Amino acid sequence: MTEYTEAESSYKTLSLLAPAVYIVGAGPGDPDLLTVKAQKLLVRADVILFADSLVPEEILNLCRKDAEIIPTANKTLEEILPIMVERVRSHKSVVRLHSGDPSLYSAIHEQMSLLAEAEIPFEVIPGISAFQAAAAKLKIELTIPGIVQTIILSRISGNTEVPKREELAALAAHQASLCLYLSARHVENAQARLLEHYPAVTLVAICFRVGWKDEKILVVPLPEMAKCTHRENLTRTTLYIVSPALSQVIGRSRLYHPEHKHIFRGVSG
Ligand SMILES: C[S@@+](CC[C@H](N)C(=O)[O-])C[C@H]1O[C@@H](n2cnc3c(N)ncnc32)[C@H](O)[C@@H]1O
Repeated sequence: MTEYTEAESSYKTLSLLAPAVYIVGAGPGDPDLLTVKAQKLLVRADVILFADSLVPEEILNLCRKDAEIIPTANKTLEEILPIMVERVRSHKSVVRLHSGDPSLYSAIHEQMSLLAEAEIPFEVIPGISAFQAAAAKLKIELTIPGIVQTIILSRISGNTEVPKREELAALAAHQASLCLYLSARHVENAQARLLEHYPAVTLVAICFRVGWKDEKILVVPLPEMAKCTHRENLTRTTLYIVSPALSQVIGRSRLYHPEHKHIFRGVSG
């Protein structure tokens, strides 16, 4: 007989999962930030594929003890897809866990096309993206009336080319709240492009592994963005938020508390 976790037993009145692929946003890392739907799927799924470099293992504590757990960090899409197809054709439910929200930088477009081609049913379940979790930790509103009303989510060109019309300096010209994913390895270039338009007093929040045990959040003036990134040796899982809203942080003194893991070193406000 199937063994159920405690969380599973609280959902046992729900019907069993249909064989399909459930593309689930796991949120930024803190298991408490999973959606209720993501939790329900995790406690019931037969098979869980997860990007081990981006999803902490604690999230998997919810899974059935007899679930098949497959890490995918070292696998290509060509290897992952046949696994999903085979399991669903064997009448199993498959959760494909992605960090944050699957609509952002999750390479699900190609996965979904191939699943559709193979006539495998799939669903997408949204999650909390890194920028939302970081804004919550920073206690900022990214759209403060009279200061900033637009949020831009982007990245700098790396392995994936950003279209020319979306070049970072062009985005910086809006001086909006700009959330920069996947850019830590190109931080000098990012800083230079941003400073073409943001005033040098603008603050940037450097947010490393928000929601993980080793989370680190540093807030510095824009001209210190690259230096600080290097000093802290941040190369992965780092999100930058550049925003006029950052100088409006409420309750900043709490961030100086010695027990607080954050470092906040701004010049204005
Ligand atoms: C492959 S993308 C996935 C983004 C994800 N779908 C989301 O919505 O947050 C990975 C990048 O997202 C950002 N990221 C994801 N999780 C993060 C976290 N917990 N803390 C900081 N940045 C994170 C970093 O910029 C990282 O390089």
